[in-house]
Amino acid sequence: MHSKDQICYDEYQRTADWLLSQTRHRPNVAIICGSGLGMLAEALKCQDSFSYADIPNFPQSTVQGHASRLVFGELRGKTCVCMQGRFHMYEGHPLSKVTFPVRVFKLLGVQTLVVTNAAGSLADSYSTGDIMIIKDHINMPGLAGINPLNGPNDEKFGPRFPPMSGVYDKDLRKMALDICKSLGYSQFVQEGVYCMVGGPNFETIAEARFLHKLGADAVGMSTAPEVLTASHCGLRVFGLSLITNKVVKDYEDQEKVDHAGVLGVGLMRSETLQTLVTELVSRLEINNNRVE
Ligand code: HPA
Repeated sequence: MHSKDQICYDEYQRTADWLLSQTRHRPNVAIICGSGLGMLAEALKCQDSFSYADIPNFPQSTVQGHASRLVFGELRGKTCVCMQGRFHMYEGHPLSKVTFPVRVFKLLGVQTLVVTNAAGSLADSYSTGDIMIIKDHINMPGLAGINPLNGPNDEKFGPRFPPMSGVYDKDLRKMALDICKSLGYSQFVQEGVYCMVGGPNFETIAEARFLHKLGADAVGMSTAPEVLTASHCGLRVFGLSLITNKVVKDYEDQEKVDHAGVLGVGLMRSETLQTLVTELVSRLEINNNRVE
């Protein structure tokens, strides 16, 4: 990371203090909405919303399908803050900016991070429209040394060498699977490994085959930086991928993925995803010993 990309503790704190001065909500849960999945935020009651452009230090999102708002409100009695639109590496943001909101959430008192994304499937048993509970991830940019935790470590957030085994909370995954069973979702819900690539291009056939052989079930262009930053500062993490397309792994296959198709599947399954996240959030145990 270039030193100019380094963000100091006071900057996160200033943004958190500004938000706390603008809303009476004190969120315990943060939700990051992926491409075409921003309607989750619409379900929040008693909303206070802030355009990213108005929040001190916040980056700006440039991708179609993202509304660029931070929305505070109640979801079945749990106070949440919801990102309608996230930041991606391929937009040119340094990862310190991509993950900036996560540390702000920590300073707001958030304990649990829920991430959603759109992803292409590599697993042969998956279909378009499936929901994948993320069991683990492969962070391709991270393995290549592109990591939001690069640079001097701030112990106020977490340790220099954070473990990443068990980063997607096992109890939350179990709870989500139970909810899916009781809602009758089981036939289109999977649990699998998400692979993050840098994008913005979709994968070549050789790359898709390579990632599949590595053990990835789905591939997308986000999530890993936010998740590892959240885990580093002690947040519990739960993640869902909406399978918006099958990744082409066969040279005889004529299909081509495009962004409009990705957004369309998001719309198709948006209500289902919203129901699942709402049910999960409503069952979260909140530790109310907030450090103000
Ligand atoms: N590849 C990478 N990112 C994606 C895809 C894909 O096929 N679909 C949605 N996001």
